[in-house]
Amino acid sequence: MAIPPLVDAKSCNIASQYRWLEGKVAIITGGANGIGASIVHLFWENGSNKVVIADVQDELGQAISDKLGENVCFIHCEVSKEEDISNLVDTTIAKYGQLDIMHNNAGIVDRHFGNILDTPKSDLDQVLWVNLVRSFLGAKHAARVMVPRDKGCILFTGSACSSIAGLSTHAYAVSKYGVLGLTKNLAGELGQYGIRVNCVSPYAVITGICDPSGYDAAERVAAVYEMGNLNGEILKCEDVAKAALYLASEDANYISGLNLVIDGGFSVVNPTMMRAFGLLQ
Ligand SMILES: NC(=O)c1ccc[n+]([C@@H]2O[C@H](COP(=O)([O-])OP(=O)(O)OC[C@H]3O[C@@H](n4cnc5c(N)ncnc54)[C@H](O)[C@@H]3O)[C@@H](O)[C@H]2O)c1
Repeated sequence: MAIPPLVDAKSCNIASQYRWLEGKVAIITGGANGIGASIVHLFWENGSNKVVIADVQDELGQAISDKLGENVCFIHCEVSKEEDISNLVDTTIAKYGQLDIMHNNAGIVDRHFGNILDTPKSDLDQVLWVNLVRSFLGAKHAARVMVPRDKGCILFTGSACSSIAGLSTHAYAVSKYGVLGLTKNLAGELGQYGIRVNCVSPYAVITGICDPSGYDAAERVAAVYEMGNLNGEILKCEDVAKAALYLASEDANYISGLNLVIDGGFSVVNPTMMRAFGLLQ
C-alpha cells in the first residue's frame, strides 16, 4: 500500500489524511517555540488525540493551544524543576487518562562559541541543568506512568554536535552527549516494558535559540546554508518534526535506542580530500 506523503501544500505543508498518531496523548516540552512548536503542529495534524505543550513561555504556548483548539492544551512547566514535571505528567493523566509520547525537547544554549578558558562554570551548570537534567526528569516521570501500561514512547531532542566535534560550545556538547547516553541506557532498561526510547539530533536550524547578537538573521541563514552537506537544502523545524513523528508512530515499533541525526550527512562527511582532488567546489 502506498503511504500518502506527509507534506501537503494545502495545510501548513503537512498532510492530515494519514493519521499516524490517532488516539495518542503526547507531551512536548519546549513546545511553545521553534522545533517544539513544529512538533506540536505536526502531531496535531496527524491525529494525536491530545497534545500538551509544556513550556515557560505562557503567552506563546497558550496562543498555539487557542489556535489549534480543544485537542491541544498548554501547561506551564519549568522543565528543570521536578515538581513541575511531576505535575505536568499527573495533570495530563488526570485530564486525558494516559500518556503515550513524551518528547523532552526544551533546551538552551549557553553562547555561540567560546573556548574553554572563557567558559565560566555557571554556563556549564545552567546548560546541563536545562538540557540534561530536564531530560532525565521528563523521562523519569513519563516512565512512572508508562511502565504500568507496558507501552509508551520517550523522545529526546539531542544535537548533531554529539556526532561530530566543533558544532557548539563545550557545555552544550557535554549536555547533548549526556542526552544521548540517557537515550541508550533508558532504551536498555525500558525495553522490558515495551517502551521505546529514541533521540532526534538536528544540525543547525534557525530558531529562537539562536542569539541574534553578532549576526543578523540573513547572514546566519547564509552561513548555515553554505556549511551544510546537501546542496539546495536548508534544515527547517518541520524536518525535525517529521523525524519525531516517525519515531513516535507505530511505524517505528521496532526502533529503540536510536540517535536519528538530521544533518544531511554533515557529520559523516569530511570534504577535505574531495576538495583537494577538485571533486568538490
Ligand atoms: N536550533 C538549532 O539549531 C538546534 C540544533 C540542534 C538541537 N537543537 C535542540 O532543539 C531543541 C529545541 O530548540 P529550538 O531550536 O527549537 O529553540 P527555541 O528557543 O526556539 O525553543 C526552545 C523552547 O524551549 C523552551 N524552554 C527553554 N528552557 C526551558 C525551561 N527551563 N523550561 C521549559 N521550557 C523551556 C523555550 O521557552 C522555547 O519555547 C533544544 O533541545 C535544542 O538544544 C536545536
